[in-house]
Amino acid sequence: MITYDGEIELGRNDECWCGSGKKYKKCHMEFDERLQALADQGEDVPPRALLKTAEEIKGVKRSAEVNVGVLDFVAEHIGEGVSTEQIDQWVYDYTVEHDALPAPLDYEGFPKSVCTSLNEVVCHGIPSSDDILKSGDIINVDCSTIRDGYFSDSSRMFCIGDVSPEARKLVEDTKHAVELGLAAVKPWGHLGDIGAAIHEFARSQGYSVVREFGGHGIGLEFHEEPFVSFVTRAGTGMVLVPGLMFTIEPMINLGKYRIDMSDPNGWTVRTKDGRLTAQWEVQIVITEDGYELLSW
Ligand code: MF3
Ligand code: CO
Repeated sequence: MITYDGEIELGRNDECWCGSGKKYKKCHMEFDERLQALADQGEDVPPRALLKTAEEIKGVKRSAEVNVGVLDFVAEHIGEGVSTEQIDQWVYDYTVEHDALPAPLDYEGFPKSVCTSLNEVVCHGIPSSDDILKSGDIINVDCSTIRDGYFSDSSRMFCIGDVSPEARKLVEDTKHAVELGLAAVKPWGHLGDIGAAIHEFARSQGYSVVREFGGHGIGLEFHEEPFVSFVTRAGTGMVLVPGLMFTIEPMINLGKYRIDMSDPNGWTVRTKDGRLTAQWEVQIVITEDGYELLSW
């Protein structure tokens, strides 16, 4: 028999697919029956290839240790007068000194080790010696790490010097939006619950949410299925099956949601109206009773 995700159904006494070494009937058989039933009901059920095994989660945690360490290092050193090129150098050096590689470097031609997105830059800003941080700037530093083949990805905002109350509120509210997204995560719930919580809060504060970019599955690749939108309806989208690993990384704009992708460098994304934008990113894995935060 072929199952919902195109795999051949295992026999009760076969070894389970999850790598536990246990018999299927003593391991994931019931779990798989639940997935199959949901798929039969027309739910969007992740293929089991996306669900991370215990060993894979361990590998991702080792990768995330470095990723969190890089961002902690940046947090300690960032400030007025620092160039985004300098941040890139910190990220590269810290990462390779910890037996890992920065995932952005050479990723689809990206020229640097980290994305640094300043003020009206929504995402994918390229570090440069010409960009020197000054008082009043807000910046997203987005770090991604490969260690032993496992990927981690998270980003944080930094307020440089004296930032306007409006900018600071945007930064804090965007962090709060991620927390609300996390609070909406329920195993066997839906991916759309997260974006619904985030979008509702963002709108309540008069902001808009970027549509073209969002979170993503991650773990064995930098970007896996599913795409994680933050303009969704509750109860829609992929079922949050334990083992599913993805990022929550809304980009929230002070003004309109439209973006400008016309930069000749092919990467830098800006708000169309030129107003400020903010983003925080965390990486999680769904567990039997909730989720585990892997990178932040
Ligand atoms: N770190 C980004 C994300 O959160 C991806 C950056 S792709 C790069 O998905 F090539 F610009 F690094
Ligand atoms: Co990401």
